[in-house]
Amino acid sequence: MANTILVGAQWGDEGKGKIIDVLTEKADIVVRSQGGSNAGHTVIIGEQKYILHLVPSGILRNRKKCVIGNGVVVDPVGLVEEIRMLEDLGVKVDGKLFISDAAHLVLPYHRLLDAQREDHKGRKKIGTTKRGIGPAYADKASRTGLRMMDLIDPERFEKALRERLKENNAVLKALGAKPLSFAKVHAACRAAGDRLRPLVTNTVVLLNRALRQRKEMLFEGAQGTFLDLDHGTYPYVTSSNTTAGGACTGSGVPPHRIDRVVGVMKAYTTRVGEGPFPTESDELGDLLHGMGREFGATTGRPRRCGWFDAVLTRHAAMVNGIDDIAVTNLDGLDTLERIRICVAYKLNGKKLDYVPADLHQLAACEPVFRDLPGWQSDTSRARKWKELPARARQYLEAVANLVGASLGIVSVGPARDQTIVLK
Ligand code: IMP
Repeated sequence: MANTILVGAQWGDEGKGKIIDVLTEKADIVVRSQGGSNAGHTVIIGEQKYILHLVPSGILRNRKKCVIGNGVVVDPVGLVEEIRMLEDLGVKVDGKLFISDAAHLVLPYHRLLDAQREDHKGRKKIGTTKRGIGPAYADKASRTGLRMMDLIDPERFEKALRERLKENNAVLKALGAKPLSFAKVHAACRAAGDRLRPLVTNTVVLLNRALRQRKEMLFEGAQGTFLDLDHGTYPYVTSSNTTAGGACTGSGVPPHRIDRVVGVMKAYTTRVGEGPFPTESDELGDLLHGMGREFGATTGRPRRCGWFDAVLTRHAAMVNGIDDIAVTNLDGLDTLERIRICVAYKLNGKKLDYVPADLHQLAACEPVFRDLPGWQSDTSRARKWKELPARARQYLEAVANLVGASLGIVSVGPARDQTIVLK
């Protein structure tokens, strides 16, 4: 196992949680470097289903260190709840989880601002998870954010929170929301700070020391390439860099220490929230929702569904430097007679083989499809490449060729063992 960055190659929800869990077996340290509790990584082990929002999925294995890096925005109260949930299920957290002292905090006013701003946008809303992510990163960029190091220093935190709440309450009032009570916010955060204090450390030093000891790291990307603040379908994006570069800035691990980038993609495409989606298909959406699939792990919202978009994923391979792909949810296509792959876009009569940065152009792109015959048999029991139907293999090979990366992993169901590892 080399130092590996795992990224989502579509709009998030690619099934990264499961692939991370598979790859974690060979890693020493699992690192989250961006995003916050907007992420929802689902891991199923035996009968138990875990949905993790902030804690890296490596926590579910023994002897793995897990790091929440400086680039993550942490809701301290939510994190304590997640830790409690893990502990109640018998998962050990202390001594395994390390939180960056420089990670910014998501505080109750960020959540409220997120919700208020979305409501005010009406039809132009982004469709955020309302977890306060945008406002927390905005505070970071405005240099008015509070960090983990502030939270664990009670005196400093009380003073800073009082100041920040004054300003944010004025904004909330202007947006028509009720101001927050300092006493309530302070009490909840103070308690969370007390629980988290032993876990907070300088993770940049911790990770670079580990690199010198030749420990191997897995960077657990959250969201997906097209939700990236710079490379995504702006403004319908999240507020962090979800692409491979974000793993370095969000952890303090230098780029030349990265050996491999794995891009996770579904065998079809989904997105939650608003924004253009060239291959969106109600037919496929109805089929998948009817099977009980494609409901959001964080918000429960039904995801929008569409055919596999090779223009999108090839663009993701370019931006992230994807070496290997992990294709998930292959079994979702098991019943189809005909499967479509978008191989190019058509814009104003011209063929386009990349994703235009201009949202209006992307919204006007029409997909050019290549149709492949479906395999119409159950793939969920396949554990080896050879056990997949020939037409499923043909489909996967077409996907890998179009993306321009090699096929590393195929996932045929949510369980840990429903996985075919090729590389
Ligand atoms: P935010 O990250 O909550 O600000 O939401 C911004 C956009 O990113 C919305 O379209 C969300 O639905 C989307 N988003 C955020 N996190 C995830 C995720 O983990 N999976 C899929 N979509 C996400």
